[in-house]
Amino acid sequence: MQVVERNGARIPAIGLGTSGLHGQTCARIVEQALKLGYRHIDTAQAYENEREVGEGLRASGVKRDELFVTTKIWTTHFAPHDLERSAKESLVKLRLHEVDLLLLHWPNPQVPLQETLGALAHVKDIGLARHIGVSNFTVALIEEAVSNCAEPLVCDQVEYHPYLDQAKVLEACARNGMTLVAYSPIAKGRIRSDETLKEIGRAHGKTAAQICLRWLLQQNLCAIPRTSRIERLSENIDIFDFVLSADEMAQVFGLGIANSRLTDFGFAPKWD
Ligand SMILES: NC(=O)c1ccc[n+]([C@@H]2O[C@H](COP(=O)([O-])OP(=O)(O)OC[C@H]3O[C@@H](n4cnc5c(N)ncnc54)[C@H](OP(=O)(O)O)[C@@H]3O)[C@@H](O)[C@H]2O)c1
Repeated sequence: MQVVERNGARIPAIGLGTSGLHGQTCARIVEQALKLGYRHIDTAQAYENEREVGEGLRASGVKRDELFVTTKIWTTHFAPHDLERSAKESLVKLRLHEVDLLLLHWPNPQVPLQETLGALAHVKDIGLARHIGVSNFTVALIEEAVSNCAEPLVCDQVEYHPYLDQAKVLEACARNGMTLVAYSPIAKGRIRSDETLKEIGRAHGKTAAQICLRWLLQQNLCAIPRTSRIERLSENIDIFDFVLSADEMAQVFGLGIANSRLTDFGFAPKWD
């Protein structure tokens, strides 16, 4: 598994997204993913599956120090005491002593960012998280967060796939030594029938989803595709044995510029 190194963190480039996975399906998919070679699992308080993710981690038998586990603090827990308390609750559910990466899930203008970042850095200092970062932060918020946080932020987790141009957020991450972690990296499955991706895939013997994930990987990013199907777990990490040419990369970039659109959240955040 390729690793992305940023601000002291070594993050496996492909992780398993788990939103919408619950109960035994969730535990089983996490276990299978780890048995197939995944080492990075993405969950969140808001997904209400941290307990099952923890079950899957343990059932896999993979050693703790080989795993990279991310969770995210929900926005209603951003007041400093709430943040520390809820981080501890997540660890109890996951049955871990620390997570590898703890993120602020979305910006919350109701709580001063500086206070929340102080609490996030404190949680890292007391050993509950090895690394910290943010999610759904715009360029302006990234800059504000970096200049107000005593500890390095390693990533901004945002929606990114061939139909969404994130050039400005990518630049802001690079400027600050952070990586972009791409969520909804296969556009919630929509790229499966994309003619450009399928055409490029035919040349490499790969699917549209694999071309899409390879395009992200070649930008030296992390991506966290989600699947509830065991056969797709393998498909989504079988992307390390081929290379897209500069021309193929450009064709996929062209899809984003041509498809500027509303996100799945039904509105267009002003990322820049
Ligand atoms: N930070 C945030 O605010 C935020 C927001 C959204 C998501 N996320 C994270 O990012 C993860 C991934 O995002 P996502 O779940 O929104 O979307 P996604 O990973 O882009 O797409 C998931 C969808 O694609 C299908 N799929 C998976 N592999 C496929 C393949 N090889 N070919 C065709 N279809 C495939 C899945 O169906 P099957 O299950 O049937 O395979 C599922 O319907 C989430 O699970 C979560 O961990 C974070």
